[in-house]
Amino acid sequence: MNPAQSSWDLLIDGKPATRVLFENGGLQQTGWLAPWVQGRDVLILTDETVAGLYLEPFRKGLGAARLVCHPVAPGERSKNIETFLEVIDRLLENRFGRDMLLIGLGGGVIGDLGGFVAATYQRGVDYLLCPTTLIAQIDASLGGKTAIDLPKGKNLIGSFHYPKAIAVDPLALETLAWPEFRSGLAEAIKYGAGLDGDFFDWIEIHLDHLLAKEASTLNELVHRCLALKAEIVSSDPRETGSRRALLNLGHTFGHAIEAATGYRVRHGEGVAVGLLLAAKLSCQLGQLSQEAADRIHRVVKQCGLPVSLPPLKTTELLPYLFRDKKNQGDHLVLILFRSLGHAMITRDFPIEEMVRILDEWPRSAWPRD
Ligand SMILES: NC(=O)c1ccc[n+]([C@@H]2O[C@H](COP(=O)([O-])OP(=O)(O)OC[C@H]3O[C@@H](n4cnc5c(N)ncnc54)[C@H](O)[C@@H]3O)[C@@H](O)[C@H]2O)c1
Repeated sequence: MNPAQSSWDLLIDGKPATRVLFENGGLQQTGWLAPWVQGRDVLILTDETVAGLYLEPFRKGLGAARLVCHPVAPGERSKNIETFLEVIDRLLENRFGRDMLLIGLGGGVIGDLGGFVAATYQRGVDYLLCPTTLIAQIDASLGGKTAIDLPKGKNLIGSFHYPKAIAVDPLALETLAWPEFRSGLAEAIKYGAGLDGDFFDWIEIHLDHLLAKEASTLNELVHRCLALKAEIVSSDPRETGSRRALLNLGHTFGHAIEAATGYRVRHGEGVAVGLLLAAKLSCQLGQLSQEAADRIHRVVKQCGLPVSLPPLKTTELLPYLFRDKKNQGDHLVLILFRSLGHAMITRDFPIEEMVRILDEWPRSAWPRD
């Protein structure tokens, strides 16, 4: 099998829910999307940066009955209620019906926003995702989670709505800027450190190839992450149990950092520091060895990801931590390490210890390169 041209189905309750397609150069030649697109009214939701790079070749030859393109401003600032309503308006203006198809062409923001539009417009319409960032290819597109942010916190409104297909073109990563690329590596480290120790070893060994965006190594990274995610999502499609929550390792702290900085930091940057904070707390609780915590720290640093907190007071982070969706009533729930490769969900830790770690963690300004 050529891993750059393959497909498989994400199964939910034993039935195919999302087709996962890999096609090198697939954003330039979209004939492979024809089974979903042909003869339908299609809205392509994208962002201005991705539109400039890929929209023209992508829209050509799609074979839609009617095609409307809606580019939004790039980045997290578009994952909000105003942009959501703007997209809904566009659909209404064009009299799109329930048989329409939405295609999200872009990163995780477009996937989350587009998925939420698809979940809610006329009580739900079909959608496809063509992920163009590493985060979106290895994580955000698979699993049916859709959301928008509120000033009070990240992803506070959303739903589960599975795309009919996700179409991964590995070549899209070639144009991805370095800060966005390394932000995706944070999610890959999360999979290894939290779910699969062998995969963490693999990342350590192949780090130079990954940092050089070496095609076959990147392909393997994307396939391994998606396979890990598919296995977990299939067993818990709506996160009713605790296993799927393990995918949120590093995210409680990460989301708090994102929200407390007004979403001016990248998602993966917040996750990177979140992983280190979770590792530190797990060490203090006697779960994770210092040696393992040091390995995680080293890989995060080698990827050029931040290892310090941005200049925020602990008291500025705490309200966001206490609004996290995993919490049970007033109890803060965190994903911590049982050991390297084994995350656990727990509310059994002293809050004072977590606050002390946050107080003592180094701060520095994060570059916005
Ligand atoms: N639903 C989920 O399960 C899930 C999982 C992980 C992350 N997320 C969400 O994903 C979002 C982060 O995703 P992201 O980092 O992809 O953000 P993003 O969509 O904002 O993309 C980051 C930047 O990269 C640019 N870009 C995208 N593709 C490009 C390409 N091929 N070449 C050049 N530039 C390109 C975009 O214009 C944007 O400026 C967050 O909102 C996060 O909460 C969701």
